[in-house]
Amino acid sequence: MIRFKNVSKKYQIGSQKVVALQKIDLTIEQGQLTAILGPSGSGKSTALNLLGGMDRATEGAIEFEGEDISAFSDRALTDYRRNVVGFVFQFYNLIPNLTARENVGIAAQLTGNQNEAVHFLEKVGLEQRKNNFPHQLSGGEMQRVAIARALAKKPRLLLCDEPTGALDSHTGQQVMQALQEIAGAGEVAVVLVTHNEDLISGASKVIRLFDGQVQEVVSGTAAREDSARENTASKSTDRKLEEAGP
Ligand SMILES: Nc1ncnc2c1ncn2[C@@H]1O[C@H](COP(=O)(O)OP(=O)(O)OP(=O)(O)O)[C@@H](O)[C@H]1O
Ligand SMILES: [Mg+2]
Repeated sequence: MIRFKNVSKKYQIGSQKVVALQKIDLTIEQGQLTAILGPSGSGKSTALNLLGGMDRATEGAIEFEGEDISAFSDRALTDYRRNVVGFVFQFYNLIPNLTARENVGIAAQLTGNQNEAVHFLEKVGLEQRKNNFPHQLSGGEMQRVAIARALAKKPRLLLCDEPTGALDSHTGQQVMQALQEIAGAGEVAVVLVTHNEDLISGASKVIRLFDGQVQEVVSGTAAREDSARENTASKSTDRKLEEAGP
């Protein structure tokens, strides 16, 4: 559904040139949860920004359903951002003096139809909290409201940059599960950027970036088995630490 072909992104700061992405190829499929992993500075946010039409590639093509968005006019790119893409940020960006339902409704301009906003809260399991304000919700719940808000725009592509970065691991797993269910429903491509290896067990595809290049792509069951193994390894380390503790 989205294909990067030989995509590079370079930044020029004074005389210094930074190559954030170097000739990368990748594909993102509808109905899948794709995780982009990599150390700090490897190009994850740069890739996400290009996917979302927030920035333009220096070279290469970015095809959305066969159309090269890097050749779009500014106006067409704005329409793409508005109509195709939903964003979820690390720190939720909810409006504090609006309820969960209002936060969801206002983004999608659903003001005429309150029930529709509740429908999107249902998708993330929060219909019971529709009248709560953000400060009355946990971090994971606030993030699920933010996901419902993004979904209310009916995006084809849901982009999440470190959506669990501010959450503990249990709450992070709940947010991941919500994202998995959204992808599983088949209409949206969900792309998640993270540092956290523990969170990728539900991904259909894992793309590892290193130094602006694609180091590895693992798809399908292998992605799950791989990370299951890593999860088991990290859990047994936790257990050892617990046993060693007071
Ligand atoms: N606007 C910019 N101007 C100059 N260099 C930039 C800019 N944005 C990113 N870079 C550089 O591009 C490289 C990739 O940055 P990017 O933000 O994509 O990394 P990241 O993988 O998201 O890292 P993190 O995990 O820390 O968020 C880094 O070397 C960064 O310094
Ligand atoms: Mg980043």
